[in-house]
Amino acid sequence: MSIEQSAYEQNYQQFRSLNQIMWQIPVLAMTLTGGLWFGVSRLSDAPLLTSALLLTAVFGNLMLAGILYRFRHVMQCYLDWLEEAFPEGFVNASPNSSSKSKRERFRNTNKKVRTLFSYMLYWASAWSLVVFLGYWYDREWSLKVPNSGTAVAFYDAHAATLADGYESVAFEDAYPFLVTLFEGAPLTVVDIGAGTGRDAAWIAERGHTVFAVEPSESMRTIAQKLHDGLNISWIDDRLPRFSDPSLEARDFDVVLANAVWMHIPRTQRDEAMRQLHSSTKPEGSAFVSLRLGPQDSERGMFEISSSEFVARAENAGFTVVPMGDFADLLERPDVSWKMYRLDRTPES
Ligand SMILES: C[S@@+](CC[C@H](N)C(=O)[O-])C[C@H]1O[C@@H](n2cnc3c(N)ncnc32)[C@H](O)[C@@H]1O
Repeated sequence: MSIEQSAYEQNYQQFRSLNQIMWQIPVLAMTLTGGLWFGVSRLSDAPLLTSALLLTAVFGNLMLAGILYRFRHVMQCYLDWLEEAFPEGFVNASPNSSSKSKRERFRNTNKKVRTLFSYMLYWASAWSLVVFLGYWYDREWSLKVPNSGTAVAFYDAHAATLADGYESVAFEDAYPFLVTLFEGAPLTVVDIGAGTGRDAAWIAERGHTVFAVEPSESMRTIAQKLHDGLNISWIDDRLPRFSDPSLEARDFDVVLANAVWMHIPRTQRDEAMRQLHSSTKPEGSAFVSLRLGPQDSERGMFEISSSEFVARAENAGFTVVPMGDFADLLERPDVSWKMYRLDRTPES
């Protein structure tokens, strides 16, 4: 074999292997993008990791498009060489001017495969960017929807099963420090995430005016049946911000939010804290409990920490008073509770 022949053979093989690699780029892009999007859809409330995954999809696809261009350029160099080395044996697939229709000429333009592959990569990159922006701009319409809807759907589905457990807890055991507060003059109270109405009922039975805010319809139905005939206004509303007119323009002597804070996604917590603040009378207090232990994302729970909670509360204009650590009254060994009293800081 002459040196020319062996060079031809070598360059031809080189072109073939480049061609094979080029066809793997879209498969690589689809696997990468699919994997990253799936990862994002499984995350409940991890903004940094979510952003990292989505930006990897944005830039990963752009880089693959760049690699694709470079590959095709190198392949073209080989093609040009092969054509020049043996013009009679070269198959020229370029569109020729004799192609009949415009459409046919369009279909056969040079580097069509590279162009279509790169459109695919730009498409995946652009959608990853849209989801990333949506995630930060308004999480309600982004890929993962970390809102209280998951929690409410959970309570709607499991209200009947949960009700007995909630009702088995005595108010005096749950809030020993609150009992004396309700022995005095009538107060106005809002119980946020009232559940089966156990606390709302106990307070209303002592002559106070109670607004029980509960977004789960099944919970409200059970609660109203269990605690019929008491001075409780049942309202379908939720944190982070009330929209019911009877709550919007009102503040209360006591705001109670027991076992609810873990249902508020991180990005909504400042707004929820501002709602607690505006719902509390200047001389009143909010009582909020924090569930510590593993959070169940299927149940619409998010990671919370006491230091983060305290910082947000102080930022919103509360003075934070820890009321103690409590074991779980439903006897779950890995769950414990912290209770805080939030007083409106004067002139806040
Ligand atoms: C663990 S239960 C606690 C019920 C009651 N506070 C108690 O101590 O028994 C949580 C309740 O919060 C309600 N909830 C979930 N997300 C909420 C939100 N964003 N705002 C207000 N309530 C919410 C649920 O529907 C559920 O009834």
